[in-house]
Amino acid sequence: MAAHAAVPPIMGWSSWNTYRVDISDSLIMRQADAMVELGLDSAGYRYVNIDDGYSGGRDMSTGRLTFHPKRFPHGLKPVVDHIHRLGLKAGIYSDAGANTCGNFWDNDSLGRNTGLYGHDADDCRMLFGELGFDFIKVDFCGGDPKQNTQHLQLDPQQRYREIRRAIDATGRTDVRMNVCRWDYPGTWVRDVADSWRTTSDISCSWESVKSIIAENLYLSAYAGDGHHNDMDMLEVGRSLTPEEDRTHMGIWCMMASPLLIGCDLTRLRPESLRLLKNHDLIALNQDSAGMQTYVTKADRGTYILVRDLTDKNGTERAVAFYNPTDSARVMWISLYDISLAGLVKVRDLMEQTDCDDLTGGLLIAEVPAHGTKIYRLKADRRLFRTKYEAETAFLPTYQELENPIATGTAYYREDARCSGGMCAAQLGGTQHNCLIWENIIVPADGFYDLAVSCLSDTPTHFFLTGNGMGHELTTTGSSDVQRVTARVYLHAGPNRITIFNHTAPIPDIDCMEIRL
Ligand code: GAL
Repeated sequence: MAAHAAVPPIMGWSSWNTYRVDISDSLIMRQADAMVELGLDSAGYRYVNIDDGYSGGRDMSTGRLTFHPKRFPHGLKPVVDHIHRLGLKAGIYSDAGANTCGNFWDNDSLGRNTGLYGHDADDCRMLFGELGFDFIKVDFCGGDPKQNTQHLQLDPQQRYREIRRAIDATGRTDVRMNVCRWDYPGTWVRDVADSWRTTSDISCSWESVKSIIAENLYLSAYAGDGHHNDMDMLEVGRSLTPEEDRTHMGIWCMMASPLLIGCDLTRLRPESLRLLKNHDLIALNQDSAGMQTYVTKADRGTYILVRDLTDKNGTERAVAFYNPTDSARVMWISLYDISLAGLVKVRDLMEQTDCDDLTGGLLIAEVPAHGTKIYRLKADRRLFRTKYEAETAFLPTYQELENPIATGTAYYREDARCSGGMCAAQLGGTQHNCLIWENIIVPADGFYDLAVSCLSDTPTHFFLTGNGMGHELTTTGSSDVQRVTARVYLHAGPNRITIFNHTAPIPDIDCMEIRL
């Protein structure tokens, strides 16, 4: 099996963003040394990851993986040992197919035929048994016919499951695996990996950071309990503006993404080092409740994100005001809308200062263009949330590798008629293609009215279950959002609500409100 529950996202350094395939043993060891000298290890950064560029082909007669004769003339063992001697962990890269991506895109000729395909067992034994690596990122150029010269086309789910089995067969139970398929691959990925890339490669530009954040806004249902959406390696400390660097770091922490520094640590500017070591942001990233943030308010291009801290449904929450627009904006949210009441203590995590306490009213801030403010709130009381958006619900068929219209899988789509501007679409028709809200919390056992808002042009039937009891819901057909209500018995504490129709399409779902 993959990770244990609530293991936090990995933190460390990786070679790709700055060096691409131009890496070497001395370069990696120098970066590992710098990580310790700068105190980044005590801040939580533990992994030193060798990305693409280390391979030297395979031995023709044995098929054994070899290492680049110029870049790693003594192989990888001295590098791994050096990293381990520093008290750090060592990470490596491979591909689920035959070629690495650097072989195809960076002319790295020795990366040909060095992927895991056909060599799962031997390579895993070598990498995790003999060499002692603790992490692997598994890329997919070698399985995608457009990105390998053999035009090999592999099934990602099958390949990643095989690789996970080969890792487990080495007897190591602590190896963390990252799936690099450049889009959210599907809910199967949770069985095999601790983290998975959700987008194509990051680059050192605001447009790239902004688009990666946009692609992760509605993925909170797929992370949690030791599993993480990976927004890619950090570009912090390279050439973004200080404001953009702060947003980049802050939102990666808010989203509980792995934090892999991608710059040259030997030339880090003091302000970048300070940002990377901000212990308030790191505590947010590594928080024990193990949850990802979700959008609670979207307003003319800005987003307010919220997340529980320390305990699920407890009295501590983080709130981020994210302004990707090109002008400063005043942003606000009421404490009631984030379910907090009584005296609320407020800490500004970017500035690392305590703010004035609040008692009700609004949390309000002016946020510069491309900027983000993040607050940690500790309240006297947690209120019960009465509204759950469909874009925070788990869709078992959700995936981004194939066009959902073609595959008939569910997806989230924008619709201005819906609250939050989003809904869940193309649900129903099979048992698996349903919508699940996992953590519907109510104060006491009893009957509640659950009002489901949906979009349905024609009269439709669908079903809602809570605690084993099914309810049929019927829409009349309208071009506007409609509400249909089921009276459901819920228990105090978390309840699971499922919306389904095994045989027919379900209207697009906007949200659900709970009324006492
Ligand atoms: C890409 C991957 C990058 C990097 C690169 C190596 O597919 O997304 O993060 O690993 O391959 O060639």
